[in-house]
Amino acid sequence: MHSSLALLTLFGVRAYAWGALGHETIAYVASNLVKNNTQLWAQHVLGDNSSNYLATVSTWPDSWRRTDEGAFSAPFHYIDAEDNPPEACNIDYERDCGEEGCVVSAIANYTQRVQQPGVLSDTEVNYALRFLVHFLGDITQPLHVEALALGGNEIDVEFDGEDWNLHSIWDTAMPDKLRGVENVTLSDAQAWASDLTADIKAGKYKACAQSWIQGDDIADAKRSALAWATDSNAYVCSVVLPDGVESVNATELGGSYYESAVETVELQIAKGGYRLAHWLDQLAAAQQNNTAYKRSVAPVTGAVDLSGRDLLPAPRELSKAKLARRAVGWDCAHSH
Ligand SMILES: *[C@@H]1O[C@H](CO)[C@@H](O)[C@H](O)[C@H]1NC(C)=O
Ligand SMILES: *[C@@H]1O[C@H](CO)[C@@H](O)[C@H](O)[C@H]1NC(C)=O
Ligand SMILES: *[C@@H]1O[C@H](CO)[C@@H](O)[C@H](O)[C@H]1NC(C)=O
Ligand SMILES: *[C@@H]1O[C@H](CO)[C@@H](O)[C@H](O)[C@H]1NC(C)=O
Ligand SMILES: *[C@@H]1O[C@H](CO)[C@@H](O)[C@H](O)[C@H]1NC(C)=O
Ligand SMILES: *[C@@H]1O[C@H](CO)[C@@H](O)[C@H](O)[C@H]1NC(C)=O
Ligand SMILES: [Zn+2]
Repeated sequence: MHSSLALLTLFGVRAYAWGALGHETIAYVASNLVKNNTQLWAQHVLGDNSSNYLATVSTWPDSWRRTDEGAFSAPFHYIDAEDNPPEACNIDYERDCGEEGCVVSAIANYTQRVQQPGVLSDTEVNYALRFLVHFLGDITQPLHVEALALGGNEIDVEFDGEDWNLHSIWDTAMPDKLRGVENVTLSDAQAWASDLTADIKAGKYKACAQSWIQGDDIADAKRSALAWATDSNAYVCSVVLPDGVESVNATELGGSYYESAVETVELQIAKGGYRLAHWLDQLAAAQQNNTAYKRSVAPVTGAVDLSGRDLLPAPRELSKAKLARRAVGWDCAHSH
């Protein structure tokens, strides 16, 4: 009884999106970089004036999706790109975003919703910000923007002698190994974020950081998020599966595979943090003129449609990959 519970817990932790270390590091990179007014705005929305205001909510959507109330949000953590790695990598919104939505529509939806403090309740605005902090992280993980084998969840691999799957080593095992972390704490994430922030400001990422946010615009969130997804998806062909599934299937990946991939893991975490800071800066600037931001205003219900349904792709017949996703459910062990 005890041991099966422990195993379940272990598996649950492993199945998370970028694991806790990845999401919390992205959050701290962003909090290191945002403008002061942005920090004040985000702390106000989240009701948390501590310096951990982004990090402590960064993994919330992964717990929320496992509740009855939050189950609807499970498809929002990924987009199942039905491309053909390693020969061809690409995202096609109308082909790939599921009928309930995907990480791209979710980012667009919550970008709209976080800007409606006079229309939505404080809790809804707070949730919108939590989702953004998380999904701007998920979208940089290449296997969150790939349909093949349920984003690699169905490719069993070994990592330093333990059983994992390809998706989960990208989420968790490789980040943890890079930082030499076993049981992640906020200070592990803070330390990684502080290294990445230095690399962005004056180190190896200084020259390219600006290109990571080129064209990013909260007024066209769907286009911006699609660009991020396309950027991450390209790594499926170049780094995640350059020699195809057979070369990683049931294979030990803690050695040369890890060496070839870990730089991309770190780059994607840095990008997520930098983009999140820039996105939040834009949102906070737009909110400076919103009188509803400074004090709580009674929500105006029914006046505006903020369901985001206009963001969804046109209905079409379900593909094999979408049927496979549906068959395993969104919230079973194969979470993604
Ligand atoms: C922003 O906040 C930091 C730390 O609280 C402070 O040192 C800095 O002077 C502030 N910057 C501006 C422009 O107010
Ligand atoms: C956070 O700080 C602001 C401004 O200093 C204050 O008005 C607010 O009550 C504080 N919020 C919490 C949750 O402590
Ligand atoms: C991995 O290899 C096993 C046989 O060793 C095979 O049964 C399985 O279908 C392969 N998985 C994938 C995703 O190709
Ligand atoms: C991590 O946690 C596990 C389970 O609680 C424990 O057995 C292990 O010693 C911990 N590892 C470190 C490095 O603290
Ligand atoms: C806020 O309002 C001022 C004055 O009307 C305007 O100049 C500024 O551009 C607005 N800022 C944003 C981000 O909309
Ligand atoms: C937008 O967010 C709301 C609240 O979480 C949710 O009910 C709705 O399904 C979302 N719409 C899309 C297209 O993601
Ligand atoms: Zn996630």
